[in-house]
Amino acid sequence: MSKADVLLGLQWGDEGKGKIVDVLTPSYDIIARFQGGPNAGHTLEFNGIKHVLHTIPSGIFHPTAINIVGNGVVIDPVIFKKEIDALLTLGVDVKTKLLISKRAHLILPTHRLLDAANEASKGKNKIGSTLKGIGPTYMDKTGRNGLRIGDIETKEFKEKYTALVEKHKQLLSFYNYDYNLNELEPTWFEAIEFLQQLQFIDTEHYINKALVSGKKILAEGAQGSLLDIDFGSYPFVTSSNTICAGACNGLGIPPNKIGNVIGIFKAYCTRVGSGPFPTELENETGEKIRQIGREFGSTTGRPRRTGWLDIPALKYAIMVNGVTELMMMKADILSEFENIEICTHYDYDGTIIDYLPYNIDPKYIKPITTTVKGWNKDLTAIDNKDKLPAQLMDYVRFIEKATDTPISIVSVGPDRKQTIQMR
Ligand code: GDP
Ligand code: IMO
Ligand code: MG
Repeated sequence: MSKADVLLGLQWGDEGKGKIVDVLTPSYDIIARFQGGPNAGHTLEFNGIKHVLHTIPSGIFHPTAINIVGNGVVIDPVIFKKEIDALLTLGVDVKTKLLISKRAHLILPTHRLLDAANEASKGKNKIGSTLKGIGPTYMDKTGRNGLRIGDIETKEFKEKYTALVEKHKQLLSFYNYDYNLNELEPTWFEAIEFLQQLQFIDTEHYINKALVSGKKILAEGAQGSLLDIDFGSYPFVTSSNTICAGACNGLGIPPNKIGNVIGIFKAYCTRVGSGPFPTELENETGEKIRQIGREFGSTTGRPRRTGWLDIPALKYAIMVNGVTELMMMKADILSEFENIEICTHYDYDGTIIDYLPYNIDPKYIKPITTTVKGWNKDLTAIDNKDKLPAQLMDYVRFIEKATDTPISIVSVGPDRKQTIQMR
């Protein structure tokens, strides 16, 4: 009997989860996505190829690993088909290596319209959603109206689809939202037809049998802990549980079958979309991080907001996930900074605190930072821990001490090879 490891982002997403899953895949038999959907954009780089995955797990390029899209994921058939087409062009054997849960929910064209209508109605208070229909699809799931992958194979599929769309039309008329569904539906149904070549299965049975037979499973998180529906900066969050417990719900893994919990974070912070961001740098330094780090969304192309590393927020994410090891990404981006700041505490309305409180609205909370010396050295060609500059090792040790959690990998570039093992 084995246990499943979970890999997840500890900040506001885009920490580099895709890269690390790809690096770790050779040690696993199965890679499984457990939540989120095409709001995710996971980037992999190897042999000069850069590839962005949205719904498909980042283990898909490995020749034998099985990749599972779990019940907790929401699937847009149109985006899914595009992803598969791109992989088929690269010669990836998607048909045998990809398994899809019958319980995964479908994103309908009207879910996307509702996402857009809802955001438009919020005006300046909008969430900054990726407009992929994520919120409305999860609302239909918890509201017990949703359509699932398993429904595709039933005779009533079209009927169920029509009934749900009728409900959505009423909501859209409430929003006074203009749309032309006739333009969207044919492509959606073509994609549904196409998807039927793939394997729809009861992934919870498959995964639990795999655990019993000692297979190694890695659950791949999407988004980040600070976007979690319960523990993130609500309401500026996504609509799923992005934390470790989400892997239990989203795959049918019992909690006592979770092994290592790998937490991924950037050496600084980014956030895309609206919502509070305590260490945000709305100045030249923030712009410098954005430009050097190429901090523009993998899914939407939007500029990402940038700021220094936030230790209280990181400790919070480590706590709610039960993180057993950390991996620090994009260390190379800080190479050009003479000094680096780290937020260690907050001033919360006059009181100094070292934890993430309920309210992180900038009206209440100011980051308190400490300054450390930068390393001022290009890291991108370094291939061994012993060659890392002393100041970077100090930065690593500072974070390990502050979080009481070991850092097992430091990433120094987007390529698979630019990965330093620390232990
Ligand atoms: P994910 O959503 O967590 O998988 O992350 P994204 O793919 O959205 O964003 C991470 C971006 O950083 C991608 O463009 C990666 O190719 C890139 N990246 C990952 N690790 C590193 C690193 O250590 N250094 C640099 N320079 N880029 C990295
Ligand atoms: P990966 O997996 C970064 C953000 C959106 C918005 C909020 C809600 O690549 O790290 P949604 O479309 O989910 O309703 O948007 O969440 N968001 C992400 N930010 N990385 C992601 O995924 C994200 N997925 C959603 O920008 O603020
Ligand atoms: Mg991303």
